[in-house]
Amino acid sequence: MAEKVILEYLNSNGKIEDSGVFSASVGLDHKEIVNTIRSLSGFQLVAAEDIKKENWVLSKEGESYCELGSPEFQVFLAVPPGPEGISLLELKKKCGPELFKIGSSAAIKNKWIQIGKEKVLRKAEDVSDQLKELLLKIKDGLDVEQTDITNLKRRKLIELKTWIGYSVSKGAQFALERKKLVTDLTRGHLQSGDWENLEFKEYNVNAKVTLDGGHLHPLLKVREQFRNIFIEMGFEEMPTNNYVESSFWNFDSLFQPQQHPARDSHDTFFLNEPSATQSLPEDYVEKVKSIHESGGYGSKGYGYDWKREEANKNVLRTHTTAVSARMLYQLAQGPFTPKRYFSIDRVFRNEAVDRTHLAEFHQIEGVVCDRGLTLGDLMGVLRDFFERLGMKNLRFKPTYNPYTEPSMEIYSYHEGFKKWVEVGNSGMFRPEMLRPMGLPEDVTCIAWGLSLERPTMILYGIDNIRDLFGPKVDIALIKRNPICRLGINY
Ligand code: PHE
Repeated sequence: MAEKVILEYLNSNGKIEDSGVFSASVGLDHKEIVNTIRSLSGFQLVAAEDIKKENWVLSKEGESYCELGSPEFQVFLAVPPGPEGISLLELKKKCGPELFKIGSSAAIKNKWIQIGKEKVLRKAEDVSDQLKELLLKIKDGLDVEQTDITNLKRRKLIELKTWIGYSVSKGAQFALERKKLVTDLTRGHLQSGDWENLEFKEYNVNAKVTLDGGHLHPLLKVREQFRNIFIEMGFEEMPTNNYVESSFWNFDSLFQPQQHPARDSHDTFFLNEPSATQSLPEDYVEKVKSIHESGGYGSKGYGYDWKREEANKNVLRTHTTAVSARMLYQLAQGPFTPKRYFSIDRVFRNEAVDRTHLAEFHQIEGVVCDRGLTLGDLMGVLRDFFERLGMKNLRFKPTYNPYTEPSMEIYSYHEGFKKWVEVGNSGMFRPEMLRPMGLPEDVTCIAWGLSLERPTMILYGIDNIRDLFGPKVDIALIKRNPICRLGINY
C-alpha cells in the first residue's frame, strides 16, 4: 500500500520533500512510510536523504492538560459561579488533593478565584485557559515563544524528541513496481518462459562464511582407497554389519579348537546378554563337531569332546574371517561359482592398550575361492594387491593359523624405515574348514588379512594409535590430515 503510494507520487511529482508532511497528506502512518522508503532505497528504486528535526512534544502530563484543561482551569471550573461558592473542604474533595495543590495557587494568582474564611468564590466570569492553548500549539507543531518553552520544560509538560524522516526522489532503478529478484533458476521458470525477464539477486562474494565443515577421518580415507583397489581387482564386499558373532562362526567353523588360548576371556570379549546364539545351521554344526572330534577328509581332527555350549557363546568378533566363513558356507549351499570377496571392518580383542594396540581396530581381508588354487596363486594375488599400495618388494615367512595351511606372514621392504616390516597374514583355508561346508573337493581358497590402522599410521606419520582412534583422538590431526595417497610405500 505505502509502496504503491510513494512510487506513484514520485512518478507524477518527482520528489517527496518531507516524509512527515507526505505521510500526513496521504493519511498513512509515518513509521510505515519510513520503513517502506528504507526498503525501496535498498533496491535503489528511490534515493532518500535523511531529515533530522528536533521537536518539542507533550509529556504525559502535558497531554492530560490538553484534554482536561490546565490544573488552574480545572480548579476554577470546580468552583460554582454565584455568591454561594463552595467550602474549601468541599473544593479540595471535589478536585482531589493533588490537583488542588497544583491548580489553586495559579487560579488565585490569575485572579480567577478567591479563597475566603468561609468559602471559595469565583472572581472572574469568563477565563481563557492559556496553558492549554499553549500546549495545543506545541502539539500542532506551531511556533511558540522561547520563554514559554523554558517554562513548560521546567514544569515537565513538554520534552525534546528527535524526529527522523526523509526527502525522497527517484532512484537509479526507479520503476512503478518492485521487481522480485530471484536467487535460483527453477524448472518452473524454464517451463513458464519466465526466465527471459528474470532479474537475479547478486551474489555477495564478500559475505563471511565458515569453511570449517566436517572432516573425513584418516581411517575412512584409507579404507576408501583399499576398497577401490579391491573393486578394481574384481572383489565383492562382504556384509560385515554384525559386531556380535557366535563362537561357532568366529572359531569353530574355522577349525579353531575349543581349548585354543585365543578363545580365552583374556583375549576375547564374551557377551553377558545375550550370552548365547539362538540358531546355527544344525547339519553343518554336526559336521564341524565331527571334524573337530574325529577328523575326516584325510585329517585326524583334534580328538577332544566338542561342546555345543562353547560354540553357542556370543563374542565380539575377533576377526572378519568369521564373516568369510559365513560367506563360504553360503557359497557352498548352491552350485559352485568362483568368488572374490573382501571386507574392511571393525574387530575386537581383549588386549592391553598401548602405542600400537587398541581393543578395537579394523581388519582388511581378501578371499579368493576357486577350483585348483595353489600357494602360487596366493603369492601372485598378494604381489598384485600390495604392488597397488606401492610395495613391490615382498617376502613371505611361514607361520601358523588354525584355519590356514600353509600360512604366511607377509613382509615388505620399507624404503623410509630401511627395514622389512610385517604388512599382513595369509594362507590357504584348510580342507577341515572348507569340506564340512560342502564345497567341492577340488575347490581351494586363498585368503589374507591386514589391519587398516597400520598403513594409516604409516601414511599419516602417526606413531601413537591413540591419537588416531578412540577417546583420546587428536581432533586437530583429524582436521588437518591431507588426502590419502596410496602407491609409494603405502
Ligand atoms: N584372521 C587373520 C587375523 O586375524 C588374518 C587372516 C585372514 C589370516 C585370512 C589368514 C587368512 O590376523
